[in-house]
Amino acid sequence: MGAGSIGCWLGGRLAAAGVPVHFVGRPRVLQALREHGLTLTDRDGGHAPLPPTQLSLHEVPPPRLAPALVLLCVKSGGTADAARQLAAALPAGTPVVSMQNGLSNVPSAQAAAPALQWIAGMVPYNIAEVGPGRFHRGTSGLLAAQDHPALRAWQAAFDRAGLPLALHADLRSVQWGKLLLNLNNAVNALSGLPLRAQLLDADLRLCTAALIEETLALLAAAGIVPAKMSPLPPAWVPRVMRLPTPLFRLVASGSLRIDAQARSSMADDLALGRPTEIDALQGEVIRLARSLGRAAPLNERISALVKAWPERRQPCSGRALREALGIG
Ligand SMILES: NC(=O)c1ccc[n+]([C@@H]2O[C@H](COP(=O)([O-])OP(=O)(O)OC[C@H]3O[C@@H](n4cnc5c(N)ncnc54)[C@H](OP(=O)(O)O)[C@@H]3O)[C@@H](O)[C@H]2O)c1
Repeated sequence: MGAGSIGCWLGGRLAAAGVPVHFVGRPRVLQALREHGLTLTDRDGGHAPLPPTQLSLHEVPPPRLAPALVLLCVKSGGTADAARQLAAALPAGTPVVSMQNGLSNVPSAQAAAPALQWIAGMVPYNIAEVGPGRFHRGTSGLLAAQDHPALRAWQAAFDRAGLPLALHADLRSVQWGKLLLNLNNAVNALSGLPLRAQLLDADLRLCTAALIEETLALLAAAGIVPAKMSPLPPAWVPRVMRLPTPLFRLVASGSLRIDAQARSSMADDLALGRPTEIDALQGEVIRLARSLGRAAPLNERISALVKAWPERRQPCSGRALREALGIG
């Protein structure tokens, strides 16, 4: 549900492994899939073409389909609408896994469509649309989801599809671990730079480090231990980001193996005038702070800058962003 980067990647891998998959998406993407089929590539040299004849494509969830499992792959702003559409078409109790970033999608979906079974999931890698019907996995990692009987039965199929799925008793720490890394998305988007160039800018790294540190302090106060989602434990990530660039290049060489033109999807959202997922990322930190009777001033300021982008549309240098965030 939501045949974009993540939906086409996960659905395409499952379809290539012989699982009958129905893709629900927007006319732009469906038309590209009808014309070009679906081609999935990855940085390990993988290449999986699916011809148009093997794709089952829909603009809305087809009624009477009764799928065994649904993967919700829309951006956070589309969750409630998508949940309502699914509820109108699917039998009560159908399991739906949110493969989205942030922590609030399952509660919003649950509120909009309480008859379906909502399960939290997490996609660790980056998928980019690189051409019509073509999607590329640019980083790696292990899919994760909340442990649930409906998903245990699917683990073998996900394995066969090259999508090994780890089930966790409590996905929250994994979601927070991922969210900490996603705090860089706003810095990247505001910088106007490709991800690699942005990470090589010491001032911009300081901004991300400060956002992560502010969040780590709130997580500690809330008793939440974020999972390790990079080769470094979460507390070390900001310390490494604060290193001078030549040292950072050495220590973070793995994280810098990114396609030179790759950007965060929030950067694409700003460029194309689409709503961003800032409320699902920095917004989550701000809500956590409020729940503790505290504030998250840096995350609040960068959230405001992202929201003000349409009036300004002016990329920020590292120095300008430090000043705007009040980072000395
Ligand atoms: N891409 C990544 O690398 C990545 C990695 C990890 C996690 N994630 C998370 O995964 C989620 C999806 O991201 P994405 O990058 O795959 O987004 P995306 O490329 O924008 O794909 C979502 C697609 O779903 C469509 N859609 C929205 N509501 C729909 C509806 N009711 N019916 C049919 N289609 C609908 C969207 O169309 P409109 O644009 O018209 O709404 C869009 O084409 C986000 O929460 C993101 O944070 C992404």
